[in-house]
Amino acid sequence: MSISQSTAEHIKSLAMIEEVVGDYVPLKKKGQNMWACCPFHNEKSPSFSVSPAKGIYKCFGCGKAGDSVQFVMDIEGVNYPEAIRHLAKKYGVEIEEEEEISDEQQQRYNERESMLIALNYAKEFFKLNLETEEGKSIGLSYFYERGFSKEIIQKFDLGYALDKWDALLTSAQKQGYEKEILEKCGLIIPKEDRFYDRFRGRVIFPIHNVAGKSIAFGARILKADKNQPKYINSPETEVYHKSDVLYGISQAKQALRAKDNCYLVEGYTDVISLHLSGIENVVASSGTSLTEGQITLIKRFTDNVTVLFDGDQAGIKASLRGIDLLLAGGLNVKAVVFPDGEDPDSYSQKLGSSDFQQYLLAQAKDFMTFKLDLVADDLAKDPIKKAEVIREVVISISKIPDPLKRAVYIKDCSLHLEIEESLLYSELNKLLLKSKADTERSESFTNPPLLDQELIEDIASSTSATQDQIIALQERETVRMLIVYGFQNLDENIKVAEYLLQELEEVDFQTPIYSQMIALYKEALAKGHIPDADYFLKVDDSQIKNEVIHMISTKYELSEHWTGRHGIFISKEEDNLNITIYKAVLKLKHKIVKKLIAQNLNDLKNSTENEVEKYQLISMELKKIDREIALQLGIVISS
Ligand code: UTP
Ligand code: MN
Repeated sequence: MSISQSTAEHIKSLAMIEEVVGDYVPLKKKGQNMWACCPFHNEKSPSFSVSPAKGIYKCFGCGKAGDSVQFVMDIEGVNYPEAIRHLAKKYGVEIEEEEEISDEQQQRYNERESMLIALNYAKEFFKLNLETEEGKSIGLSYFYERGFSKEIIQKFDLGYALDKWDALLTSAQKQGYEKEILEKCGLIIPKEDRFYDRFRGRVIFPIHNVAGKSIAFGARILKADKNQPKYINSPETEVYHKSDVLYGISQAKQALRAKDNCYLVEGYTDVISLHLSGIENVVASSGTSLTEGQITLIKRFTDNVTVLFDGDQAGIKASLRGIDLLLAGGLNVKAVVFPDGEDPDSYSQKLGSSDFQQYLLAQAKDFMTFKLDLVADDLAKDPIKKAEVIREVVISISKIPDPLKRAVYIKDCSLHLEIEESLLYSELNKLLLKSKADTERSESFTNPPLLDQELIEDIASSTSATQDQIIALQERETVRMLIVYGFQNLDENIKVAEYLLQELEEVDFQTPIYSQMIALYKEALAKGHIPDADYFLKVDDSQIKNEVIHMISTKYELSEHWTGRHGIFISKEEDNLNITIYKAVLKLKHKIVKKLIAQNLNDLKNSTENEVEKYQLISMELKKIDREIALQLGIVISS
């Protein structure tokens, strides 16, 4: 069964982009559009824009863009039908189901879905096992011994994997689940010519995605055994990307927003113990070091993180890098350290709910104080270490994106370490300059550049872009001209669309998506219709839609604070439309000729003696064309 087309359309028509996005990030109106800090990447000043008029969002920082449905897919990590269902719930629309049309594409698309269903089956199976004799006497009693209540077992969907080779496999197969899917889910493992269960004789901690679906499992051994790992976890799968997942996120979601703070712990059992102590705004990185994906996930709910450290020095030192990552994500970071030998799990049980909550509040230290306290002992013993300490603290400060916050910390640091602020600033500035140079180098081609001639030229002159990349940009620019201005008159006799297509007749677009868009454009034109952005947004191809969204949202149009030089430029594009379009075509041709020249030169180098003349002739011809175009461009540019 799938959602009927008409229901989907109805829901899409109701789902106002600003309302959908507004559920996740606060939007501020500026001009025609609304702005926020991007929920998909870490940033401190808003480059995420929402256009209510166009029904789309676009981030100028990370390039994510789309409509309401796409937004839900991206932010909830769900597929298309799930996103539609999500929106249906929000807008109180009843979903009309219809029989599935199954073709090859649908099948591929369904694989994720099948995996989630199989994973859900496994979760239910593990839960039911807790009610068997074996489950009760081993699994359930283990949980009770650790002080887990019935409610908490339910809340976290805890379960038990029977101590058999193929309990899950046999049962799942009886229900019609295919081995291939179970294997893809990481639930069974092939050995010789048969399969066996990955999780056996262990208690099960299901790992949920934000939407609350089980996507993986952690399985804990019951008795200490040196020869076996304490936990066996699901491997990476199509639905489980470890680095983007936090244990407990689905149970913490609401509390994270309500408390505007996130406690960060290490393990499954730490999360559960905090819930038992009445603290629900907690997630675990699950024993690995924190990743950017996990930080982005936290940032969707709150900007404040309190890291809870086990009371052993070695562990703390190892986790300090995580703090720098959190700072770099623009988060406000605090830390709590537990007494030696205690972790959140043990200590919460020792103190009891209310004392434990008190402890967290009283002990939470700002990261700076925390870091300085941490080294205080070392410093007292060995004052020569001071330079090292200063450097380390300043490195952390340099990660903070907000200059105001940095200033506050520099002051703090100067007081604590009894050192001139100016000295700290000079160290800080050195680090900032270095990191700026680093990011600029790595970002030069990863972010989709803004769409305009000047920028393409900027990129062309930077050495990192290849000729093909430049041509692709120029192709895109030409397609943009078609889509945005196609219906306008170039002069009384000719429309932009006609002129451009005429000029492009002899040009083969090398980038598949743009040549596809040109073909679609011609097709529509042949039917007497000049296609615009809306036309392409209705095409059933997400790649094309995405392209068009990028094309129609230029930073200049969307943002008010981009006036000045930039404001002038956008008016220029439309005011001098003829020149802009003339230029776009010429530049594309120019880039292509440049590529041909390079190719020809290469051919010439590798040519046999009797071919030389041929290639030299071609070379002369190409250079002539190149000069002509340059001349024309020169005229245009200087006019
Ligand atoms: P811990 O050893 O602190 O486990 O590892 P824990 O969850 O607190 O369990 P208890 O309280 O000792 O029973 C922290 C996290 O590291 C991962 C798990 O995610 C665990 O929750 N881990 C640990 C593994 O994945 N595999 C292991 O063998 C050990
Ligand atoms: Mn632990």
